[in-house]
Amino acid sequence: MVYAPVSLDGRKILITGPTGQVAMPVIEAYAEIADVYAIARFRKAEQRKAIEGLGAHTLQADLASDDLRVIPEDIDYVINFAVAKTGDFDYDLKANAEGVGRLMMQCRQAKAFLHCSSTAVYQYEGHSPRTEKSPLGDNHRMMFPTYSISKIAAETVVRFVAHQFKIPSTIARLNVPYGDNGGWPFWHLMMMKEGIAIDVHPEQPNYYNPIHARDYIEKIPRLLAAACEEVTTLNFGGSQQVSIEQWCEYLGELTGLTPHFKANSSAFGSLCIDTAIMHEALGETQVDWREGIKNMVQSMAPELLQGE
Ligand SMILES: NC(=O)c1ccc[n+]([C@@H]2O[C@H](COP(=O)([O-])OP(=O)(O)OC[C@H]3O[C@@H](n4cnc5c(N)ncnc54)[C@H](OP(=O)(O)O)[C@@H]3O)[C@@H](O)[C@H]2O)c1
Repeated sequence: MVYAPVSLDGRKILITGPTGQVAMPVIEAYAEIADVYAIARFRKAEQRKAIEGLGAHTLQADLASDDLRVIPEDIDYVINFAVAKTGDFDYDLKANAEGVGRLMMQCRQAKAFLHCSSTAVYQYEGHSPRTEKSPLGDNHRMMFPTYSISKIAAETVVRFVAHQFKIPSTIARLNVPYGDNGGWPFWHLMMMKEGIAIDVHPEQPNYYNPIHARDYIEKIPRLLAAACEEVTTLNFGGSQQVSIEQWCEYLGELTGLTPHFKANSSAFGSLCIDTAIMHEALGETQVDWREGIKNMVQSMAPELLQGE
């Protein structure tokens, strides 16, 4: 059954991690229809201003340590995008795992709590699409030492608090988010521009399921509808499986730049997903990856497009 989206019209929504790549377009879209509260440490005043400029109320707190009573008690929906990846295990576990628990405690009355996890919670398994039952592992250790472990810990805290306090919750394991404000493919484009070799795992091609911001903005209200006290856990990516090699070649076609790949067994390997549960709950995503990538270049680096 594809869940009908919850209505966000006029609802009070709390979004954490608002200054991040993933949350920004969500804030922009939802602030037009809902009463959006955005919480972060906002160490740079201009970032706070930018979020307020999108129409959200801002709240300042460190999820690792600060009193979260700054959050109104009558929040309808929570979308937790915040993530700390400082490399310090004590701090990152506190911010990501204890932090989500503290957030849920403060928002116990919410109709639904959506926790954004990552497919980085899965162990490396070559080209086989990861199902929600695939083994977990320390996937991203080489680049972000605390990331996979603290995302796994955070999921466990979400389930514990949801069960204990009967908070309808969803855990969405996000794959590769991208859009008009960038994402991993944009970093690859910048590397191509600078002539920097792109590290890829030797078991090529390296498959992922990139998801465009337009699609995740459309799917989030369905993820909120899927929330339950038992906690719904599902993969969350684009319906199309695309490799790093494919999207870089396509970036080359658009710009005339040539990607140079360097095999490196320490690079993140394929992390594509089994989409069965996601499709059943949310339906297919709509943005074709080539269209999404082209839009991204048009928005972020139009001067690089050939013939435009
Ligand atoms: N980007 C990806 O490719 C990707 C892939 C899969 C999953 N995800 C997941 O998607 C979500 C968003 O990722 P992102 O890449 O957009 O993140 P990001 O760009 O690193 O932004 C992180 C956000 O979290 C906030 N934050 C960090 N530490 C905090 C703390 N201690 N207390 C309160 N707020 C804190 C930051 O704001 P302040 O610094 O101002 O506090 C910022 O708004 C994360 O849950 C991530 O795991 C991302």
